[in-house]
Amino acid sequence: MEKSQVQSSQWYPDGYFIYDGIPYTSTMCSVSNLSACKEIQFRDDDVLIASYPKTGTTWLQEMVYLVCNDANTEKAKESMIGDRVPCIEHAFQGKQSTINKLKDNKQQRLMFTHLRTSFFEQEIKQSNIKVILLIRNAGDTLISYYHFYKLATRYSGDWNSFFEIFQKKQLVYGDYYDWYVDWLRLLHFPNVILMRYEDIKRYHAASVEMLSRFLGKTLSSNEIQIIVEATSFTAMKHNPGTNQKQNPMFDHQQGEFIRKGEVGDWKNYFNEEQTIYIKHLDEEFLKPFELE
Ligand code: A3P
Repeated sequence: MEKSQVQSSQWYPDGYFIYDGIPYTSTMCSVSNLSACKEIQFRDDDVLIASYPKTGTTWLQEMVYLVCNDANTEKAKESMIGDRVPCIEHAFQGKQSTINKLKDNKQQRLMFTHLRTSFFEQEIKQSNIKVILLIRNAGDTLISYYHFYKLATRYSGDWNSFFEIFQKKQLVYGDYYDWYVDWLRLLHFPNVILMRYEDIKRYHAASVEMLSRFLGKTLSSNEIQIIVEATSFTAMKHNPGTNQKQNPMFDHQQGEFIRKGEVGDWKNYFNEEQTIYIKHLDEEFLKPFELE
């Protein structure tokens, strides 16, 4: 397929396209916008979350925002999380692209991306931007992605068919393992840290503390507690700024964006063959990270 050719699709309402070998949906992105993302210039006080879809990005976005804004939950409620910590590559039809908005933003820029390192590696190397690389085990990520596909695209297949799309590396944003093999190379940079979804679940307060240290913020124990409470699963599920219940792009009859938030949900879906398939890939590519 040509780099810039938008293909019609039964699932993606506005079609999809391939850019540098990776599938993207035209609902949220465009070829010209991705090219513009390659020109981004980072500033030393920028904060970037780098994550594969469905690994808890929204959770970390809310934590980063509150850490950088003195745990001000009232201010956080004034706007949607996607406006406070936007996705670099998002470009919605008829609206200004994030990349252009970021250029105009004179305040500290908090942002996230699901793109590969090729867009940013030199800029990360040359600036003091703080990058938080987020990882979640592949099984739970894929189950979450399967539910998200039903919510956000017209996907009507079952879990087994979704798993086949994963095996063919045809999911939007490409393959989970390729994504991490690419980004984990940057972990030796002094301005990049790794956070695991499973650790945040288990050690929520300690994770917020670690995050604030990395971002150079000194928070009181009271402020840490406020952030922990505001970013609990229940609080975020009931918060209109994070749960996306008003998002017109979603088919809300299919479920909720902040869905289950558990570790190990994949065991309810994977058959033996799928489990072995993932275990082999974990072993080959992610062994040092001991994902559950
Ligand atoms: P599930 O579908 O497994 O529930 P992303 O923001 O990258 O799209 O990731 C979404 C996943 O993060 C969803 O996983 C969602 O429920 C989970 N999530 C969001 N907020 C959370 C929170 N406060 N605690 C735990 N999980 C959360």
